[in-house]
Amino acid sequence: MVLDLGEQPPANSFIDQSELNSTEPKFPLRLFWCPNCFLVQLLDIVDKEYLFKNYLYMTSASKPIVEHFTKYAKEIYEEFLQGKDDPFVVEIGSNDGSLLAEFKKLGTSILGIEPATNLAKLANQSNITTTNTFFSSKVGKEIAKSRNASLVVANNVIGHVEDLQDLMEGIKILIGENGVFIFEVPYLVDLIKKLEFDTIYHEHLSYFSLLPIVNLTNRYGLEVFNVRKQSVHGGTIRVFISQKNNFKAKDSVKHFLDEEQRFGLSDIEIYRIFSVKVAEFKRKLKTELEIIKKENKSIFGYGAPAKGNVLLNYCDIDTSFLDYVIDTTPLKQGKYTPGTHIPIFPPEKILDKGAGHIALLLAWNYESEILEKEKQFREKGGKFLIPIPTPIIK
Ligand code: TYD
Repeated sequence: MVLDLGEQPPANSFIDQSELNSTEPKFPLRLFWCPNCFLVQLLDIVDKEYLFKNYLYMTSASKPIVEHFTKYAKEIYEEFLQGKDDPFVVEIGSNDGSLLAEFKKLGTSILGIEPATNLAKLANQSNITTTNTFFSSKVGKEIAKSRNASLVVANNVIGHVEDLQDLMEGIKILIGENGVFIFEVPYLVDLIKKLEFDTIYHEHLSYFSLLPIVNLTNRYGLEVFNVRKQSVHGGTIRVFISQKNNFKAKDSVKHFLDEEQRFGLSDIEIYRIFSVKVAEFKRKLKTELEIIKKENKSIFGYGAPAKGNVLLNYCDIDTSFLDYVIDTTPLKQGKYTPGTHIPIFPPEKILDKGAGHIALLLAWNYESEILEKEKQFREKGGKFLIPIPTPIIK
């Protein structure tokens, strides 16, 4: 075990007012490192039906993600699909269909696989054909019976999968001889470097560096032939996989593996240091918030991302510090943050706010966009407290 974040409610289990007095289920949130395959992972696994069947995170609520997806679809289309006869794109964990909508605009056939019933329904209503299920080798085989996918995409979802072996088996069948599997996952090196400990929560079972991915794909006769760094979600890698020898492996693969070795991912020491820094972070943030409170200023949370809930629960920040939280996701508004019970309001709540108000930026991954968007709040004297990697007022 390399980090213990205590017992926490699932980070996306926002609650209704009527549930404020009932006891929420909490589960241990602990990070483990495997000295054999070097995968960093949770071993306390919360039932996936419970976590994902009704899901409040909507891709379309975060403008920067939608922009990222528009660019992403175009790049991949040009690199792998353009000129092909009726390319077919399957997305695993397709959420509200935001990314597939971009592929559809480019003229490809599409299919979404999405376990959240509420999101699959939303996607289907906007004509993004979506099957409401968890992806598995069985599902992969079923789709491949009618046709192989030219491209399988999975964004921010491979880390959520409990049985990675079964996933790879499904991918191998689904992409057939010539298809490509491309996924994006938050990168462990960034998580450690930038102290993004709040991205550790029950939904995220694996925290990937490239090495365990290469080991896993090799076992299925697949090959990582390229890897690229992306800036979304605090630092992500985009990994390109196909059947062995379909593509010439790019130098990037060796480069990433060498860098990871140099960075020290194959030694427990780096995780020990990380764990000490996380504990220091809590002390620093609490001190900062106590100073602000003594100055009689009002503090609110900016954004109600899952990661914000980990931060709030780990640091014991409840309504004695934060008056409320604002968030653009309609499904979250009117609810309360899990564990800490802070009410969530639409962003309009801060329209008249300025001096004497401090926004704790829980959605710190969108810092530049949000600071730009909230110019008015800042011009009127409002300040942002950016928590990660070390609390700073801007
Ligand atoms: P995100 O960081 O994408 O995800 P996670 O839940 O995985 O940590 O979530 C960002 C949250 O912040 C999401 O609920 C939408 C919200 N948000 C705002 O309220 N305002 C904004 O300007 C942006 C970009 C996001």
